[in-house]
Amino acid sequence: MDSRHLRWKRMVSSSAAAPGGGPVSRVIVEPSSGIRGELTVPGDKSVSHRAVIFGSIAEGITRVSGFLFGEDNIRTMDAFRAMGVDIDADGASLTVKGVGLDGLMEPDDVIDAGNSGTTARLLMGLLAGQTFFSVITGDRSLRERPMGRVIRPLTAMGGAMAGRVENTLLPLAIMGRRLSGVEYSSPLASAQVKSAVLLAGLYADGDTTYTEPVKTRDHTERMLKAFGAPVSIDGNMVRISGRPTLAGTELVVPGDISSAAFFIVAALITPGSEILIRGVGINPTRTKIIDLLVRMGADIALLNRTTALPEPVADLRVRSSKLHGIDIGGEEMAGAIDEFPILCIAAAVADGKTTVTGASELRVKESDRIKAMAEGLTTLGVSVEERPDGVTIEGRQRLGGGSVKSYGDHRVAMSMIVAGLVSDGRIEVEDVSCIDISFPGFMDALKEVA
Ligand code: S3P
Repeated sequence: MDSRHLRWKRMVSSSAAAPGGGPVSRVIVEPSSGIRGELTVPGDKSVSHRAVIFGSIAEGITRVSGFLFGEDNIRTMDAFRAMGVDIDADGASLTVKGVGLDGLMEPDDVIDAGNSGTTARLLMGLLAGQTFFSVITGDRSLRERPMGRVIRPLTAMGGAMAGRVENTLLPLAIMGRRLSGVEYSSPLASAQVKSAVLLAGLYADGDTTYTEPVKTRDHTERMLKAFGAPVSIDGNMVRISGRPTLAGTELVVPGDISSAAFFIVAALITPGSEILIRGVGINPTRTKIIDLLVRMGADIALLNRTTALPEPVADLRVRSSKLHGIDIGGEEMAGAIDEFPILCIAAAVADGKTTVTGASELRVKESDRIKAMAEGLTTLGVSVEERPDGVTIEGRQRLGGGSVKSYGDHRVAMSMIVAGLVSDGRIEVEDVSCIDISFPGFMDALKEVA
């Protein structure tokens, strides 16, 4: 990236409140003439949450390297500290002094999950089987996101909880109960629901099975194995036996492929680019974004594959490529659910049409991502048809300029900044403070490959 062509300004104003609550800031991005160099991305958000959760309820010490100190993960860490777990942070490493399955203490205040759906939903599963009372809340965005999907299976296990709007929304009070195993077949493709049920299953009498319609990210299953829990997997069904002993362990958190995706697409769409992203997690339940981009014509190579407990890792080499539009169905989108915003940017500059269908889940993420991306791209002169369960985007060679909103959604904010690299006019992205939720240092990392 040539600094003469790309510049950004960060303006922070504390007078207006962002949807999530924090200060509002704005970035102005101008076109780039190529992205080159090597970089690493911060640790995987999903794996970092689970490292804290399982480390806390294991016996003995768990050491975690590569931990993501994003705002969401800090919420999870603070929740366990509030339940009496000693967690030491040193650089990107954590030492978690596990208290065992029955060692958590009643928190003396409400647990605030902030913007983090993973914190709220996984904790709901864990807290349902405790011997104490707890309350979970979140920011304005999280308080609008559906929780009934977790409450239903937990209630079937004997869980007792009460939430706002007929037991569907946070804040939610959880009266810890003795749980029984369940055979649950989920209508939804959701790793958060699966993980909540499996965490409750750890505290339940007997076995719990969870069957999902599509295989979603399996970080919880891998963690359970790493901590020595009796878990078995048969296709889309996971079985866990209740009340095992988990043994503290050493974990390496890989680079987050969902964060790498912003740089992958930036390099693909900016002519004259070549980058190497080192140490990215390539768990097959997370690499659908690479498959989709390759189908669009992307030049992405996976180099130096290794396995670090509990996830496989590789370096990704990405070169600018001529992309073309494709059709993406709901099952495929479920495998790249967090990558929809950045995929929309790739589609916006690809040749021809890209259609996403069967992905109404995108409407209940940190923002309504279908609406946020359709609106943003329309502002930039792209022709977008918005439907209840997806979009059709007509690719065009260059994007126009304009002022676009992030809706307080970290992935929308980063996607719009990437769009600015290939726009003819200047793009102004409003409210980018939310980027710290998953990728603190994103702007510096982008500058670095300039
Ligand atoms: C996550 C699961 C996904 C994903 C989220 C993280 C996880 O949510 O969108 O960012 O860590 O389990 P759903 O399970 O709601 O699809």
